[in-house]
Amino acid sequence: MEIEAIGKRLMATVEAASTTEELEAARVAALGKNGELTALLKTLGSMSPEERVSEGKRINEWKAALSGTIAAQKAVLDSEAQNARLAAETLDLSLPAPEAPRGSVHPISQVMDELAEIFADLGFAVATGPEIEDDWHNFTALNMPETHPARAMHDTFYFPDRSAQGREIVLRTHTSPVQIRTMLACVKENPGGAPLRIIAPGRVYRSDSDATHTPMFHQIEALVIDRDIHLGHLKWTLETFLKAFFERDDIVLRLRPSYFPFTEPSVEVDVGYASEGGRRVVGGSGDAPGHAWMEVLGSGMVNHRVIAFGGLDPDKWQGFAFGIGVDRLAMLKYGMDDLRAFFDGDVRWLSHYGFSALDVPTLSGGVGTPV
Ligand code: PHE
Repeated sequence: MEIEAIGKRLMATVEAASTTEELEAARVAALGKNGELTALLKTLGSMSPEERVSEGKRINEWKAALSGTIAAQKAVLDSEAQNARLAAETLDLSLPAPEAPRGSVHPISQVMDELAEIFADLGFAVATGPEIEDDWHNFTALNMPETHPARAMHDTFYFPDRSAQGREIVLRTHTSPVQIRTMLACVKENPGGAPLRIIAPGRVYRSDSDATHTPMFHQIEALVIDRDIHLGHLKWTLETFLKAFFERDDIVLRLRPSYFPFTEPSVEVDVGYASEGGRRVVGGSGDAPGHAWMEVLGSGMVNHRVIAFGGLDPDKWQGFAFGIGVDRLAMLKYGMDDLRAFFDGDVRWLSHYGFSALDVPTLSGGVGTPV
């Protein structure tokens, strides 16, 4: 009789529950670890075998009945709760969608695209070469002897193993090995040899790290090989490209004699600039009041030994080459002051200095008519 009374009372509480919380409380009171019905089940152990059969059956019937009612009641309450929530929440389909996170084009990629665009206008194709290079392409074929300081371990990253040809393997220290690879490929395709006109943008590596040097940085190489090429062609090309890149006609260059093993003569190129509000603004002569010169690139006429290493006859072909630091150009054009920030991957920096992927490249005019 006691069982019936307890069962009915518990069932009444379950049926009376009007929220999921009340229902859960009723379930715990009946069937939980310390619930009343659970307590009844525990009394079975102290009963006689006959009692246990009859009482056990009744207790278990109540347990099944309560569980069934609780599950049904829960389904009803859950769907009521959901209906109430749907009625309370309104969804305005005319609202604009939340903005999805968007990446941006890194200034380095942007500047490389701009340069490729400018040089395409001047008839240059884009060439590439491996970043893991052998010392023959990176040094020897560029007329840099075994004793050249750039070959030292503290300047260049060497790999522990040699190549199949027994050459040392390095992370290329400049984009100039692409000169050699391009000449050799050109000769292979066209036994007559040149002419060729390429740029080679890419990453280069040196064992160097401070505010103005990072162990990895970017260069763009240019190489022209043809008949009767002279310094005048080099100067015109540099002037035309720098004017297009900085989108200013008042760019003034200063060519200084210099030395690179792979060019002869070698020329270092400075560009005039003024400091405006702490920022360097390219334009005008570096000798003008308030102006100064800044070195922007190395260049020269391709050394005849390099032409020969490229598989071409130096008596037939001449050329010029130059190599520019892309990171430096980007800093000058877009006004960043710390090179290291380029490679930190800080999204605040990237969203400030990055470019929209929708309008790459952003050069308005291209090379146009040379002035
Ligand atoms: N490779 C040179 C450097 O990294 C730049 C250069 C390229 C100079 C081509 C002359 C000709 O400094």
